[in-house]
Amino acid sequence: MKSLASLALVLFLAGCEGRHNWLAGAGEEARSVETLFWVLLAGAAVIWTLVIGAATYAHRAEAKPEREQEARRFIIWGGVALPVLVVGGLLIWGLLILRDITADDGALTVRVDGERWWWRVIYDTPEGPVTTANEIRLPLGERALFRLTADDVIHSFWVPALGGKMDMIPGRETTLALTPRELGNWGGLCAEFCGGAHALMRFDAIVMEPEAFDAWLAHEAQPAQVAEGDAGFAVFDEEGCGACHTIRGTEAQGPVGPDLTHLASRDKLGAGIYDMTADNMARWITDTHEMKPDIDMPAYPGLQGERLDALVTFLMSLE
Ligand code: CUA
Repeated sequence: MKSLASLALVLFLAGCEGRHNWLAGAGEEARSVETLFWVLLAGAAVIWTLVIGAATYAHRAEAKPEREQEARRFIIWGGVALPVLVVGGLLIWGLLILRDITADDGALTVRVDGERWWWRVIYDTPEGPVTTANEIRLPLGERALFRLTADDVIHSFWVPALGGKMDMIPGRETTLALTPRELGNWGGLCAEFCGGAHALMRFDAIVMEPEAFDAWLAHEAQPAQVAEGDAGFAVFDEEGCGACHTIRGTEAQGPVGPDLTHLASRDKLGAGIYDMTADNMARWITDTHEMKPDIDMPAYPGLQGERLDALVTFLMSLE
């Protein structure tokens, strides 16, 4: 019993630690849900105490016919009226929060498409859409509206520290607002079981100062700078990588996999699971399915030596 209790405590505390902490209150929407949670918890504690108290009292009290009237009144007020008021009030409060966090407005619109098992991210800007993948950057203090959908199966978009979560459903659009209140790299993840690599479907949600964010987005909108006759791009081209991946500014315009235009500017590789280093990039290409099981990208174990080095150097130059 004791060990069960400590296990439960460890699991509970583990959920409170680090950048995935949904009680971190790093976003406006997370804070409103957190307040609701604490009120529910405190209310539940009060009600539990009252119920146990009443049960103990009833157990000890003697049955007397003249007290029947009193008991009936107690059942009607305590057992019907009070729960209707409390549950009704909580329902209205919850619906108001839901209305607020899904309201269709925001200083910034970001479309996110759930794929198996990564995230297609498109920023809608006045100059047109800017596509990236597996990393979301947000300006501090501004309400960002996410328009969410899925390509294949149901996923769920969640940045615990900022707010959420929201289902991503094929053929349908759902909305979710996030208003970051703290700078930092807050982890995001898929919260709906979606197949083999579900647990490896993650992303970084990086909150930046608004000026830094504007500079980042302007840079992200630019095409890649690829030198004429780049040896690594030649390998990329020969291996047919451009059939699936897009690198804006080159003839690689594949729509299937993540956009690689500014790949190396991201913190992580493989949808939020590996650091963006040359070693991990090389392994990603040759041992793809050891790095992330079940994904659609084929492995290229035959790609070794100078050709692999050139390709990795090229990919790591896409900043
Ligand atoms: Cu996508 Cu779980």
